Amino acid sequence: MSAIVIVGTQWGDEGKGKITDYYAENADYVVRFQGGNNAGHTIMVGDETFKFHLLPSGILRKEKKVVIGNGVVVDPIILLKELTEIKKRGFEIKNLSISDRANVIMPYHKIIDSIEEKLKKEFKAGTTKRGIGPCFSDKIARFGVRMIDLLEKETLEKKLDMLIPIKQKILDIYGENINLSKKDILEEYLACGKKLRRYVTDTSLLINNALDEKKIVLFEGAQGTHLDIDHGIYPFGTSSNTIAGGACIGAGIGPQRIDRVIGVVKAYTSRVGTGPFPTELDDERGEHLRDKGGEYGTTTGRPRRCGWLDMVMIRFAVRVNVLNALVITKIDVLSGLKKIKVCKEYEHKGRIIRDFPADMNLLANCKPIYDELDGWGYYSKDEWERMIKKGYEALPENMKRYINYIQKATGVEIELISVGPRRWETIDMRSYH
Ligand code: IMP
Repeated sequence: MSAIVIVGTQWGDEGKGKITDYYAENADYVVRFQGGNNAGHTIMVGDETFKFHLLPSGILRKEKKVVIGNGVVVDPIILLKELTEIKKRGFEIKNLSISDRANVIMPYHKIIDSIEEKLKKEFKAGTTKRGIGPCFSDKIARFGVRMIDLLEKETLEKKLDMLIPIKQKILDIYGENINLSKKDILEEYLACGKKLRRYVTDTSLLINNALDEKKIVLFEGAQGTHLDIDHGIYPFGTSSNTIAGGACIGAGIGPQRIDRVIGVVKAYTSRVGTGPFPTELDDERGEHLRDKGGEYGTTTGRPRRCGWLDMVMIRFAVRVNVLNALVITKIDVLSGLKKIKVCKEYEHKGRIIRDFPADMNLLANCKPIYDELDGWGYYSKDEWERMIKKGYEALPENMKRYINYIQKATGVEIELISVGPRRWETIDMRSYH
């Protein structure tokens, strides 16, 4: 098995960073294939916490090669900041490659993101305001600046000669008193190009060669299935293809290359941003999940909306990604809840809905139909440690029932169970299969 894709099955924030880092132990390459610095990965090494937005999670494992694929939109200023920070903390960056074809987030993208969010009123997605949508719009409209353009003064200047007056006109129409300076943008982005030049390359070639050599390549999804531009909760999702198929486009590999797709399921649901959320909890149980789960955006710090696990969402993710295995994360966060609910289907005007709908009005009026399971108590750090050492069998009976419920409802094998943010807080189920 050499090409493995890891995707989120919900609305992002499933804990993919930790899981990618876990699988990265046996991988040679870790590749990001979509999104941008709207993502936020938290990884704990020992007691140190690292938060990344753009760098692939494998960056902390020194011997791994990490790749930012063509499908990622790159904010070079943020990327350089992350590289500087990580170097300061003792990590050498030798093995990073960035696609020459990746589109660049420009200053006007960030400005337009904020303005358009305001104008969209009830249709706003609650974006991260990182310029993601406007950058992907420009890419598709062929107004984009690509990483390769940052390496040549004449190329970038020519593009900016065309782009700046257009973007200025848009800002003027929006009534914003903002002056875009071609000179400043050219200088700043050429300087970024100079610093990043050594990493910029044809990453599709690199990855395909690695796969030919039977290297293990991990494709690290950002966000989650239900934020996908085509398959997510449009227009409240993000602007890239977050599902497994996105790995082909965003890394430049053929579909036949992919050997396995792993879906990460958080044991409950969270959402940062707007849009319908059928299993949302506005009471103390929602507070429990937010507090115990530390559900505050890694990128924006916003409190996340929290609710019960929704199998309608997960089954959809199993279908559109064709998942070979599931990883359950943050199950420890449910500890202390007397009863735990899981949504098995929705009800809308007397009709049972088993498949996640495209109609957002309908979704907003769906009532979740729940199964209720018994919860389990709190366990101390030592008790968790003991259980993890002993493995799955040692877990509380009601937790095992919850895990079995997910397995049965999806028909997909559960490969890992994560019970905490650190690498060792993981139960590997592969010996049970
Ligand atoms: P954008 O990707 O910044 O344009 O935001 C679009 C929507 O996706 C908003 O609702 C964001 O809150 C959400 N979003 C973007 N990135 C993430 C992520 O990494 N985790 C969770 N939600 C995200």
